[in-house]
Amino acid sequence: MAGAEDFAGRRILITGGGAGIGAVTATLLESKGACIAILDRDEDAARSTAAKLGGNKGIGLAGDVTDRKAVTAALDAMLETWGGIDDLVNNAGTWDHGSLLELSLERWQRVFDVNFFAPLSIANMVVPRMGRGCSIVNVSSVLGQVAAPGRGPYCVSKSALIALTKMQAVEWAGRGIRVNAIAPGYIMNDTTRTMAEAGGFDPSAINRRTPLGRFGEEAEVAEGIAYLLDNRRAAYVTGHVLEVNGGWTAYGYT
Ligand SMILES: NC(=O)c1ccc[n+]([C@@H]2O[C@H](COP(=O)([O-])OP(=O)(O)OC[C@H]3O[C@@H](n4cnc5c(N)ncnc54)[C@H](O)[C@@H]3O)[C@@H](O)[C@H]2O)c1
Repeated sequence: MAGAEDFAGRRILITGGGAGIGAVTATLLESKGACIAILDRDEDAARSTAAKLGGNKGIGLAGDVTDRKAVTAALDAMLETWGGIDDLVNNAGTWDHGSLLELSLERWQRVFDVNFFAPLSIANMVVPRMGRGCSIVNVSSVLGQVAAPGRGPYCVSKSALIALTKMQAVEWAGRGIRVNAIAPGYIMNDTTRTMAEAGGFDPSAINRRTPLGRFGEEAEVAEGIAYLLDNRRAAYVTGHVLEVNGGWTAYGYT
């Protein structure tokens, strides 16, 4: 069992931590002793989630992950407040829908900018500031492991993020930095609820297709991220993709 102090003194940057999985992860890691900086394009969400972390343990910063100046400002704020950074969770993500033949390259680019190039760029900015024992988690998706018709930019960018995770793990192992990915399945939250209500997918069909018979919870993904970041429990885990999907990818029947 993880203890309340497993992350005592650790300084963690979570992108897109103002809402959803990122916010629940911020709360969980703070409860285990970490200090959390949130970089989110939604300023109110960044600030209110950070404020809930209490005292000197949360910083909420407004900014898009594709904006290098915003990332630099976040890292500088962590340096000024806590003296540096230990861990990074590349969580912010976006999507676009459309068939391969109808999506313009500009629309592919926008999804890749957020889901792939931002995690690449932020890690490159952060790693020179990290010491041995530091860790990165990239938030991919079950759709980064399969092909879903009409979801090309999302599937391919999240798949590229898994490949990047493996590259980072092998290049940075010598620095004592572990890098892993988490691939959540269908998680019910405000975003997926809105998509379902708009007819983007049928929740009951997903429940039938998932061996555990239900959507996942944000807290179940947060627990996976906490495990991967934990230097004691996951000390020998790097370049791994942790599936938190209720058995979705294991299922082979029609
Ligand atoms: N919810 C799911 O079912 C699910 C499943 C698999 C993977 N994921 C992945 O998990 C991650 C989090 O998903 P979620 O459902 O919690 O999302 P969410 O929409 O609930 O929250 C995302 C947060 O990220 C912020 N954000 C989005 N784009 C940003 C950008 N360019 N720069 C800065 N902040 C940005 C938003 O303002 C928001 O606060 C994403 O990478 C997503 O692809 C989600």
